[in-house]
Amino acid sequence: MLEVKDVSAGYGVTEVLHSLSLRVEPGEVLAVCGPNGAGKSTLLKVLSRQLRATEGSVTFQGDSLLKDSPARVVERGMALCPEGRRVFPRMTTEANLQLGAYSRKDRSAIDAEIEAYLDAWPVIKRRRSSPAGLLSGGEQQILAIGRAMMSNPSLLLLDEPSLGLAPVLIDQVYEGLKSLVQSTGISVLLVEQNVVKALELCDRIAVLTDGEIVFEADAADVTADEVGSHYFEHHGEAHA
Ligand SMILES: Nc1ncnc2c1ncn2[C@@H]1O[C@H](COP(=O)(O)OP(=O)(O)OP(=O)(O)O)[C@@H](O)[C@H]1O
Ligand SMILES: [Mg+2]
Repeated sequence: MLEVKDVSAGYGVTEVLHSLSLRVEPGEVLAVCGPNGAGKSTLLKVLSRQLRATEGSVTFQGDSLLKDSPARVVERGMALCPEGRRVFPRMTTEANLQLGAYSRKDRSAIDAEIEAYLDAWPVIKRRRSSPAGLLSGGEQQILAIGRAMMSNPSLLLLDEPSLGLAPVLIDQVYEGLKSLVQSTGISVLLVEQNVVKALELCDRIAVLTDGEIVFEADAADVTADEVGSHYFEHHGEAHA
């Protein structure tokens, strides 16, 4: 589904990702965990074509991605739900969902999907005509995920859906993600600092530190503590 091979990228002269490789198989949820500043959001920016890779290749469903515009990437079936649950605060909840479907032309299907999403989330359905900025943090995260889903993606990129949310809201968001994954079979690349939550959702987990993948395992084979123990590891020191 997605193959990232030897990708390097950064900002100006500062390289942040150093020859990073990973794969997401069809129907798989891969979690990428790691400390602040590791390069997790930078990786998602490269995949969504907001940031140029200086080296390496990215293949999505068999074809290179690195010449596509960000809009073309969405059309090809990859959607990003960015960090910080960004919604358009002055637009209504419903208008935010409509915006997520901008690349599509199947009007009636879009309307039906928006209704289905709102039906699944009564808390935001009640506020469908209110400005999105008035929703709670958890509700805004649910809305941001819904907006990404409205482009009908086969791969969803999620950047820290738990960030800044109270534990009860984190649980709600993850319950929602679980049923989404189960009902659609969508592939997910989840970036998350909350390893416990990531392990509840993912099939496979990787640790990104300092722009490199230093650890990878099947979720069923590891504990959160084991994953966390790799957080401050760097290449070459893995078994020191
Ligand atoms: N627009 C930018 N310009 C310059 N440097 C940046 C920019 N965005 C990020 N960086 C730097 O790149 C590095 C990786 O940042 P990135 O946002 O990818 O980290 P992250 O793993 O997502 O961290 P967090 O968990 O805090 O979100 C950091 O050192 C950061 O300061
Ligand atoms: Mg980030």
